[in-house]
Amino acid sequence: MNSKLNNVLLNIALNLSANLASDQHYQHLIDGIDQVFPCDASALFVLDKQGLLIPVAVKGLSTAVLGRRFFPQAHPRLEAVMATKEPLRFDADCPLPDPFDGMLLNEAQAIDIHDCLGCSLYVEGQLVGVLTLDSLTVGAFDNIETVAIETFAALAAATLRNIAQFNALKDQHKKQKSLTDTLIQQARSQQGEMIGISQAMQRLRTNIATVATSDYAVLISGETGTGKELVAHALHAQSSRADTPMIYVNCAALPEGLAESELFGHVKGAFTGANNHRAGKFELADGGTLFLDEIGELPLLLQAKLLRVLQQGELQRVGSDQHLHVNVRIIAATNRQLDTEVELGHFRADLYHRLNVFPIFVPSLRDRHDDIPVLAGYLLEKVRHQFKLPNLHIQPNVLQMLASKLWPGNIRELEHTLTRAALRAIQDNQHTITSHYFDIPLTNDVKNTSLFFPTSPQPMRQLVEQYQKQLIEHTLEKTNTNWSKAATFLQMDRGNLYRMGKKLGIK
Ligand SMILES: Nc1ncnc2c1ncn2[C@@H]1O[C@H](COP(=O)(O)OP(=O)(O)OP(=O)(O)O)[C@@H](O)[C@H]1O
Ligand SMILES: [Mg+2]
Repeated sequence: MNSKLNNVLLNIALNLSANLASDQHYQHLIDGIDQVFPCDASALFVLDKQGLLIPVAVKGLSTAVLGRRFFPQAHPRLEAVMATKEPLRFDADCPLPDPFDGMLLNEAQAIDIHDCLGCSLYVEGQLVGVLTLDSLTVGAFDNIETVAIETFAALAAATLRNIAQFNALKDQHKKQKSLTDTLIQQARSQQGEMIGISQAMQRLRTNIATVATSDYAVLISGETGTGKELVAHALHAQSSRADTPMIYVNCAALPEGLAESELFGHVKGAFTGANNHRAGKFELADGGTLFLDEIGELPLLLQAKLLRVLQQGELQRVGSDQHLHVNVRIIAATNRQLDTEVELGHFRADLYHRLNVFPIFVPSLRDRHDDIPVLAGYLLEKVRHQFKLPNLHIQPNVLQMLASKLWPGNIRELEHTLTRAALRAIQDNQHTITSHYFDIPLTNDVKNTSLFFPTSPQPMRQLVEQYQKQLIEHTLEKTNTNWSKAATFLQMDRGNLYRMGKKLGIK
């Protein structure tokens, strides 16, 4: 092959890997063609799924051609080109109509008398398109080397294939993105509202609004069932990252042995079963928010790794020495008292301080009794809506009783209790929920402590200690003698609780 051809082919090959829009790739290909083949016009077609030939780049032809679609059956020359893998020449006296008759730019001189050459483009045995060359000079294509045109066709075919694959990937990505957006929307609309009129709730809302727009790490604490997850969603939804997903990690449920890979990802072959590269939750959250729920349960080893990622803003997938930069906002939640956990050596102090940049405490339901009636209304409305009932009420005196209970399981417990009662009432075809439908005693928890009111004179100190002992014993019984859990429940330091227990003679 001559050196000019080699140069053109090399240029085309280099352009194949250049980052160009697909129509530019096509045009580059066609632009090089008249430097090596004696032609006045050329066209590159892509064969689409319906079997139509779509012109994607032309030279020496009216650009109107780009708007046309060619049915091979209606164009015998194109049909003939597609039927063979060899380049096909049509002489000037060939009786078959030329698909471009009347479209050559400088046809004024030659009307429709010209030579034509067509070449089918194959990739891995599959027809992907057609290349055509036209010349106003009779016999122009007689002396072209077949190998030259075949080499050119192979490059053209590779270009078409690459672009098709690239476009397919782009389409797939677009589809994936719109699916993700839809899922984010759906997840958001399923997230319940944060209901509450108490001062404590108003303070909570103000806190959320204050910190949401910053990129600070937020540590949400509060007893079980108080709504920490709702708070995390509210924080993310009010942040500048709201359009990105909030990736959820339950630190208490990280699979043993795979926890690190779950968080930071792994490369193929990093460990048995790592058959593919995989991004971890951190990478998935890049540009968005990572919600580390139950952070207090994270094993110490992972706490150290997490701290390093937070400090450096970059991570390494398991088995890789490459550092990946990530931009992730951290929201963490726990129902443990992390400061106590730090003292007990269960949680790293440095990580605690890193996460605790902006602490948000979600108050217990017993500290915001005012919210119980409105919460009850909201929760019942959900049941009513689910069962498509015209109405569902709760007796006012029952509501009062609910408001005077302590609710150790907080809103979750209130929700479950109310839902069970509502279901029983619905079964009975009742639209008003009375105390009769509740499976818990609706007595006033606070008044129940009258059990400890003495009837004969006794020292106060002794009475209080008696109550403390019973309270600790009761809590330990509920937590299977787990002092940490008992301390969390009683909202006190584990060490102090333990010492107090021993002093009161608890074994
Ligand atoms: N202010 C609120 N308004 C309405 N529903 C709420 C509110 N707070 C909590 N809930 C509901 O109570 C249930 C428990 O809330 P959530 O899961 O957020 O609690 P949590 O603090 O994360 O508990 P845990 O520590 O056990 O994980 C959820 O169904 C939630 O929608
Ligand atoms: Mg939770």
